[in-house]
Amino acid sequence: MLLDSFQRVHNYLRISLTDQCNFRCTYCMPEENYHCHSGEELMSPNEILKLTEQFVKMGVNKVRLTGGEPLMRKDFSEILSLISTLPIKITLTTNAVLVDKYLDDLKKAGVKSVNVSIDSLNEDVFFEITKRNQFHRVWNNILLLLKNDFEVKLNVVAMKGHIEKEFLDFLNLTKIYPLEVRFIEFMPFSGNGWNSNMVVTASEMLNWANQSFSLRKMDDLPHATTKKYEIEGHLGSVAFITTMTSHFCGDCNRLRLTAEGKMKNCLFGKDEVDLLSALRGNESIESLILESVQKKHQTLGGQLVSDFHKIDANAIENRSMIEIGG
Ligand code: 5AD
Ligand code: SF4
Repeated sequence: MLLDSFQRVHNYLRISLTDQCNFRCTYCMPEENYHCHSGEELMSPNEILKLTEQFVKMGVNKVRLTGGEPLMRKDFSEILSLISTLPIKITLTTNAVLVDKYLDDLKKAGVKSVNVSIDSLNEDVFFEITKRNQFHRVWNNILLLLKNDFEVKLNVVAMKGHIEKEFLDFLNLTKIYPLEVRFIEFMPFSGNGWNSNMVVTASEMLNWANQSFSLRKMDDLPHATTKKYEIEGHLGSVAFITTMTSHFCGDCNRLRLTAEGKMKNCLFGKDEVDLLSALRGNESIESLILESVQKKHQTLGGQLVSDFHKIDANAIENRSMIEIGG
């Protein structure tokens, strides 16, 4: 069992398959000429299987594939089919551009739930944020997932100056579609220009929602990162990821693996352990994993403070989101 020094059991591994992406959202990929890892540097399908197997032996039973954009991996089908032989629940976070191409593979591997990152429902704004003209493709793929009975959650980053205009449009979606729309408080990562004035808090958004709809708090599952609400008469639901205003580190069960096989014990932590080099050098990865879990900080990687107004983004040692994996 992967128990840390605060008695938290870790059974959930988020694996980044690549730090390449077909979008260019600046909050995630700061530099236009960001240098992606490639080829040899990345975990191969077999290495992903080997590393995941080790985590499963130690108690992991849920894996999320992330990126970058995980569907950019040419060998995505092979990776998925290899790890689907393990006794784990597999989920995916994607921008959905390539979902139609992999729909059958996802079904075959038993994937039931897909999180789609989408920050705007307006074609022009979508282009402004992602620098790519793919709104219709993304939207059609969201509909395709729903039609094929996937559980679909939309991840919307709540950035000031933007979310105000689209918040109600996103809520209106839940009227006719069984979607969970999740608003994520804007988080600081290396080079993404974060400052506390850009954060729109969940309680602000809840106030906006209550002015137009009747919301009721739902029960949150253990280890949930979201605070969920249902809206009277709507098929879908709305949720808030309150990392900045009310962290959920107390029962965190999450570990991460970057695309080049470095283990991170926390999204905001600076510690990394190079599991891939150890695997390639035939060294024990079990002891490295245990050591990393033991070192996990109590809250927010030991780097962020709970009062987000007091966070100095420049003092945080971390990578950009595209390198960490969402
Ligand atoms: N703040 C909040 N959410 C972010 N994401 C990426 N960068 C940030 C950030 N700085 C979101 C992505 C993805 C999810 C894993 O995290 O949009 O949906
Ligand atoms: Fe877990 Fe770190 Fe996120 Fe807190 S900040 S919930 S400890 S990953």
